[in-house]
Amino acid sequence: MAAGETAETRYQQCRDTLEQRGQGHVLRWWTELDSSQRSHLLDQIEAIPWEVVDPLIQSHVLRRPMPDIPTDLQPAPVYPCEPGAGHKELYEEARALGRELIAAGKVAAFTVAGGQGTRLGYDGPKGMVAVTPVGDRTLFCIFAETIKAVRDRHQVSVPWYIMTSAANHIQTLEYLRAESFFGLPEGEVSLFPQAMLPALDFDGRLVLTAKHDIALAPDGHGGSLKALAAGGALANMRVRGIEIISYFQVDNPLVKPFDPLFIGLHAKTGSEMSTKVAAKTDDLERVGNVCVGGGATRVIEYSDLPDSIAHARNPAGGRKFNAGNLAIHLLDVSFIERITDGAFALPYRRAEKVVPTIDDAGARQTPGEPNAVKLETFVFDALPMATKTFVLEVERGEEFSPVKNPTGVDSIESAKRDQNRRACRWLEEAGVNVPRASDGEPDVLITIAPSFAIDAEEVLPKTRKVPRLMPRDQVLLT
Ligand code: UD1
Repeated sequence: MAAGETAETRYQQCRDTLEQRGQGHVLRWWTELDSSQRSHLLDQIEAIPWEVVDPLIQSHVLRRPMPDIPTDLQPAPVYPCEPGAGHKELYEEARALGRELIAAGKVAAFTVAGGQGTRLGYDGPKGMVAVTPVGDRTLFCIFAETIKAVRDRHQVSVPWYIMTSAANHIQTLEYLRAESFFGLPEGEVSLFPQAMLPALDFDGRLVLTAKHDIALAPDGHGGSLKALAAGGALANMRVRGIEIISYFQVDNPLVKPFDPLFIGLHAKTGSEMSTKVAAKTDDLERVGNVCVGGGATRVIEYSDLPDSIAHARNPAGGRKFNAGNLAIHLLDVSFIERITDGAFALPYRRAEKVVPTIDDAGARQTPGEPNAVKLETFVFDALPMATKTFVLEVERGEEFSPVKNPTGVDSIESAKRDQNRRACRWLEEAGVNVPRASDGEPDVLITIAPSFAIDAEEVLPKTRKVPRLMPRDQVLLT
């Protein structure tokens, strides 16, 4: 068949597929498109998984599904960060076991970095944003150097898996290559893109962002579990002897992906999927709420939490639902293998977003209000599928300060402040004198690079390397 005929056949098939679904508008500008634009559009149309999208248009686009909140919802039982009197031994044993598992190379790092960072307004992969108080180190740099530190300390290979999306895969890969993977062996860093789904307007119609381009969006970080299985990463982990995946989001510079206590308690309790929480800062904080209900551990996202539950108090007057999801999880490789084998489906969520589109004249417009629905699954919806789960409460200031907004709460500024506070605390705990201002805040800026220390304990033997700190000093410890 001649090339022209092939293109014509593809066009006709795509047109039929679209017209059967009332989506014929997608080809409205066909006669104006050049050949590469035509082929791009046909590629996009052919890649749409209609078996997923058709039912979702009915259930999640034309209708607003009600959040699934079990009627017996209660706060999840949580292990405290400091053990109670009866649990000191358990925590010590767990720490030792966690160290053993890390040193034996059984734990891999997994970063989800496929999001579009819309709120931050940064035009590129979020992992490339510089976030440290001193030294302008990026999120990817912090994670890579943390992994390298663990690798060097234990002389063991520690693979790092990064989920990207079509929107940022190439840029992420080029960046990491240009930085020589921050000293990690290239063969131990695997990037794979997650699947994309079309955005739909409120009438269930595909949205065009240009005459030849359908608006697509990553299918949510829940897509990571399928992508790990389908892309061969799980099989690769098996070959490497990995048993536990340490999952974290690209936005959190304070994350401790190799926390011996968390890993040890996960293994000791026989948990298949574990999660870290911190006390919420207010009733309506924009974090998920880790709860139990309907016989399982589950996360109720902030946007789904009814006000009556958000404001509920326990008998002592404290916040009843206080366990904020830090999006730091451990998942057994065997758990992901089990749940992705066969008909695996996480529930889809509807997110209303602003999606740039074109008007009747073909000119690009960015609406001021959400105009489309994106369809996503969330990784924490795998929690109810686990036969055993475990939840560890941690100090927020030690482990969580996400970069989500350009300014204010959860911004680069607040993440720098929190990294600085933690670095100064670690130094003081090791006996270093840190100048402080009259309000108690550090009067210095310190970045502790992972090569220097990845936790407070590692600072102690290195205090001789710390220069005498004077007010307003800026120091990068490597
Ligand atoms: C998320 C959690 C929330 C948690 C909070 C902690 C969800 C739905 N909610 O909220 O429970 O308390 O973090 O910071 O996740 N991502 C992908 N692919 C996608 C979408 C997102 O890889 O398709 C990644 C992003 O790159 C980012 C992370 O997932 O690393 C979080 O996404 P985001 O949409 O920012 O979630 P939040 O609303 O902040």
